[in-house]
Amino acid sequence: MKIPEKLLDTLNKQVTAEHQAALIYTQLSYDLDHLSFTGMSTWMAAQADEERVHAGKIADHILARGGRVQLGQIENPALNVNSPLDVFSLALEHERKVSEMIRNLARVADEVQDFDSRTLVNWFLNEQIEEEDTVSGIIDQLQLVGDDGAGLLRIDARLGAERSPATPAP
Ligand code: FEO
Repeated sequence: MKIPEKLLDTLNKQVTAEHQAALIYTQLSYDLDHLSFTGMSTWMAAQADEERVHAGKIADHILARGGRVQLGQIENPALNVNSPLDVFSLALEHERKVSEMIRNLARVADEVQDFDSRTLVNWFLNEQIEEEDTVSGIIDQLQLVGDDGAGLLRIDARLGAERSPATPAP
């Protein structure tokens, strides 16, 4: 079924938002490298790649149903981060905004009774639960170690190993 106009517009906004998330995480990856946390930087760069995959998933759905993908303006907000805790707190804040957008997407799909997008929307609802949980877990650990250098480096090593090129994100 052709995508109803209101839903198409909401899906296109989500494609743009996923690309914006990729841009933000790329910046955060650079900032982590600048702070000398190269493992966390690798983790965040992989997260940026994942956001581009998310954008592609929605774009593919639009295209498969004969719609046009229209990217909107992408802002690159100035970020002020001085520690890994700042970085991951900002990432969580951003994920929460994305989750709200996905819930809105679900509301619009229901409103226009678009059953064909249901699998896609449900996938994203689950993905957001997972993403918020993962970032919250990292924040908990960062709060636990505080300023302890050895603890921070252990987290850095673990996150780097998790997302090293040999073990790409699912
Ligand atoms: Fe695509 Fe991290 O939300």
